[in-house]
Amino acid sequence: MVCWGVVCALAAAGLLIYLIVELAIWLRADSDLTVWAAEWWGKKPEKELPGKVVWVTGASSGIGEEMAYQLAKLGSPLALSARRENELERVKKKCIEISSLTDKDILIVPLDLTDRSAHEAATKTVLKHFGKIDVLVNNGGRSQRSLYVDTSIDVYKAIMELNYIGTISLTKYVLDHMIQRKQGKIVTISSVMGIMGAPLATGYCASKHALQVRVLFRSSTAHGLYRRLLPLPWTH
Ligand SMILES: NC(=O)c1ccc[n+]([C@@H]2O[C@H](COP(=O)([O-])OP(=O)(O)OC[C@H]3O[C@@H](n4cnc5c(N)ncnc54)[C@H](OP(=O)(O)O)[C@@H]3O)[C@@H](O)[C@H]2O)c1
Repeated sequence: MVCWGVVCALAAAGLLIYLIVELAIWLRADSDLTVWAAEWWGKKPEKELPGKVVWVTGASSGIGEEMAYQLAKLGSPLALSARRENELERVKKKCIEISSLTDKDILIVPLDLTDRSAHEAATKTVLKHFGKIDVLVNNGGRSQRSLYVDTSIDVYKAIMELNYIGTISLTKYVLDHMIQRKQGKIVTISSVMGIMGAPLATGYCASKHALQVRVLFRSSTAHGLYRRLLPLPWTH
C-alpha cells in the first residue's frame, strides 16, 4: 500500500534539494541549472559549431557583439544584424581579425526588428548568400527603467513590438526554412525578468515573459527542431 505521507515528504525533500542546487549554481555560475548542465555534459561548441551558419540579431553591441567574436573564433560563418550598419562593419572587421573567417564568411544584414515587412527579405538575403541557416540567435532587444506610473503606454507598445513581436516575426521566416530542411536550432535570449517580475521594468518583464511561453515554439519542437530559451540572469 502506498504511504502518501512518505511520498509527499520525499517529493518535498526532492524539490527543496533541487531549489538549493539551482540557487547555488545561479550564484556561483551565473546561469541556471540547465545551462550549467549543458556546459558540463552537453555537446561542445568547438565540435558542434564550426561551419554552422549562425544568424545573430542585435550583433552591433553588447552580448550579440561578443557572441559574434566567440562564434567567429569557432569558425561559424555569420550573418550579423542590427540597425547600425557602421557598428556591424566594425564587429565584422574584428571578427575577421581574430579568426580564420574571411570577408565572404560574414554577411551584414541591416535590420530593424520592428519593421516586420523587412523580415522575409532579410531571411532570403541570408539564404541566398549561405544557402542555409543552421542557428538563429534572437538576441536583439532593449530594456526599460521607469516606474509604471511614469511610463507612457507607447513605451509598453514599443518594447513589445521589438522584444516580442519582432522576435517571433523573424523566427517565423527562419523556422519555415528549418522545417523544410528538417534541421536547425533557435536560441532566444530571454532574461531572469522573463521568469520573475522586477521593479522599474514592467514592460521589459512583460516582453520577456511573452518570449518565455513554451507554446510559442511548439511547431518547431513538433518538427523535431531544437529550441532553447536562455534566461540570462545578468551580464558583466
Ligand atoms: N545585459 C544584460 O544584463 C542582459 C540580461 C538579460 C537579458 N539581456 C538580453 O540580451 C539581449 C542583448 O542585450 P545587451 O545587454 O547586449 O544590449 P545592447 O548592448 O543594448 O544590445 C542590444 C542590441 O539590440 C539591437 N537592437 C535594438 N533595437 C533594435 C531594433 N529595433 N532592431 C534591431 N536590432 C535592435 C541593438 O542594435 P542597434 O541599436 O544597432 O539596432 C544592439 O545590437 C537583449 O535581448 C536583452 O534583453 C541582457
